[in-house]
Amino acid sequence: MIHIIYLLYVIAYFCISMVKNVKEEIRRLKEEKNAVILSHYYQDEEIQEIADFIGDSLDLSRIAAKVDQRIIVFCGVHFMAETAKLLNPTKKVLLPDLNAGCSLADNCSASDLLAFKLKNPKHKLVTYINCSAEVKAISDLVCTSSNAKKMIDSFPVDQPIIFAPDKNLGSFLKTQVDHELELWDGVCVVHEAFSIQKIIDIRLKYPNAFIIAHPESESNILNLAHFIGSTSQMINFVTEHPEDTFIVATEAGILAKMKELAPNATIIPAPVNEDNTCACSECAYMKVNTLEKVLDCLRNESPEIRIDAHIADRARKPIEKMLMLSQ
Ligand code: 13P
Ligand code: SF4
Repeated sequence: MIHIIYLLYVIAYFCISMVKNVKEEIRRLKEEKNAVILSHYYQDEEIQEIADFIGDSLDLSRIAAKVDQRIIVFCGVHFMAETAKLLNPTKKVLLPDLNAGCSLADNCSASDLLAFKLKNPKHKLVTYINCSAEVKAISDLVCTSSNAKKMIDSFPVDQPIIFAPDKNLGSFLKTQVDHELELWDGVCVVHEAFSIQKIIDIRLKYPNAFIIAHPESESNILNLAHFIGSTSQMINFVTEHPEDTFIVATEAGILAKMKELAPNATIIPAPVNEDNTCACSECAYMKVNTLEKVLDCLRNESPEIRIDAHIADRARKPIEKMLMLSQ
């Protein structure tokens, strides 16, 4: 028995030193190559720890547009790295793993959306930032979860709008704005996974808990929520109530930052329908990035985000307009 404990101790020590070495090498290469690392809150905690900036989609877009390092390593998913490239096109933008997709972006092609738009010729097209550069290129305006209402409200109230690709965020917006909204039928697989019954069961155990949810969640969860907001807004809500209890309906990567900023809060991840390893909801796309891949992409300066210039020129406009309107 003592031998097994000793062996486990040696293995743990070896793993911790390896992670430490990888982090040190990433920091060294970052300086040597004049790179900046941006991370979304859904990345693994060890990736967030080596990032220069962590944020939600809007924060990261704003930062990406301004950084002046030669290389941007984007620890997030493809549409986020693509947005960084659109906003700061002279930089080399690297994504640790090009397979870091998104169920929303991957299920809304520009050609299908264009056909939908042609059926609704009077409508303006507002797209959630979780979409490809090709989709942005045919959009009138882009929004994120933190500014979606403001972006819709920037149009006259009699202007009908197609909102794509997230139907849950779209349905939530219908309750917030007076515009006629036509919704694209797309979902985030991570936010569709939550079990309403299990959330209710936890709330019965913790009757004072706040239920906080990302607006990509289904309406039955949003109807129960005490607070709805983007990842940054959810973190701010927790830090404003540092002694309270929260049932958190979004991707589990966010929990690390909440626990760091509000160590006395009780933070409970909303459980999913199916049992999985952590009983919480994880984004498999976000999790394809690893610390080792961050190191490799810095070493090799690849994989790099490249966007056809013709698409990029058109895709940039609705994002820049969003940044201007959300100042
Ligand atoms: P935020 O803009 O709230 O960070 O959302 C990004 C995302 O992909 C949520 O699933
Ligand atoms: Fe896309 Fe959902 Fe993953 Fe966000 S959490 S990147 S919306 S699949």
